Amino acid sequence: MKKRIFSGIRPTGSIHIGNYLGALKNWTELQNKYDSIFCIVDLHALTTPTTAKNLQEKIFDLAAVYLSVGLDPKKCLFFVQSHVPAHAELTWLLNTIAKIPELERMIQFKEKSKERRSNVNAGLLDYPVLMAADILLYQTDAVPVGEDQKQHVEIARTLAKRFNKNYGRTFNVPQVIIKKESARIMALDNPEKKMSKSASSPYNYIALTDSSDAIREKIKRAVTDSGTEIKYSPARPAIANLMNIYHCFSGLTFEKIEQKYQGKGYADFKSDLAELIIAELKPIRRKIKELKNNPAQIKKILDQGAKDARIIAQKTLQEVKKKMGLI
Ligand code: TYM
Repeated sequence: MKKRIFSGIRPTGSIHIGNYLGALKNWTELQNKYDSIFCIVDLHALTTPTTAKNLQEKIFDLAAVYLSVGLDPKKCLFFVQSHVPAHAELTWLLNTIAKIPELERMIQFKEKSKERRSNVNAGLLDYPVLMAADILLYQTDAVPVGEDQKQHVEIARTLAKRFNKNYGRTFNVPQVIIKKESARIMALDNPEKKMSKSASSPYNYIALTDSSDAIREKIKRAVTDSGTEIKYSPARPAIANLMNIYHCFSGLTFEKIEQKYQGKGYADFKSDLAELIIAELKPIRRKIKELKNNPAQIKKILDQGAKDARIIAQKTLQEVKKKMGLI
């Protein structure tokens, strides 16, 4: 039997090349090897303030992105988290074994609660428990994510083990899958920070829907280090990040890239990098646009996905309830 993977993306902000390289592009390969489930995690998105209209739009946009990068509903299952009520229900049950200090230790919680200070909602603290419920409901074997989500997968593992110990074996304990080179794509305007959907400046990221001109402009304005050489060194984080992006889009090793740009400067390198990104994103962008004109097709796929997901999720939830003495 094939092993199962589960992963998800929050429908917030602009889906960027960090999400694409760190998650989506891997998923399109993994769907051929694994029994694959991909979720649009709208309940997680609610922890970021938004409006009903905007969230609905973002959910459909993200579904269009999933389809446009090559996720195939015939090969994998994808659905919207809130369409499967078991996610919220299992979250409550897992809350009773999750410990506040272990949730407070999460890097993402610390960062986000710093941003919002007095206004931190309880959903932000509970975010990893909902993510654990997502993963554990499907008896997942492995979770393909970017580096920033590793700690959250760890919590899912901890909760699975704790539940199994307290109540008897119920959950699979999932592994994490992280693709080394695309695990952490840094911001174009600050190579010390990761590229982020919620960045206030659009020069932080390249969105999958950016026009070719916008991509050229953003790469041109991307921060570089002092010096002129195209040489990979962790001590020069800006050029290291751009070379890493170059590598992810071209498949060329750092050595080959260095050879190619020997005696040339940042301008040549950046101009080629922009064209590489454009060549890969252009067909995706076109497809997203096409699909957005056909919301009925997207709705049909999401409805079927939710139906199939409910069956798997319900089976685990029933077992959990039995073990806990609820039925
Ligand atoms: P989210 O929506 O922030 O990010 C979606 C995916 O993109 C990866 N990613 C990156 N990879 C490389 N470089 C970057 N700069 C970069 N930024 C984001 C993330 O690691 C992630 O894989 N909590 C999750 C969503 C989630 C989930 C789940 C994931 C909810 N339930 C269950 C896996 C399994 C999140 O907010 O991802």
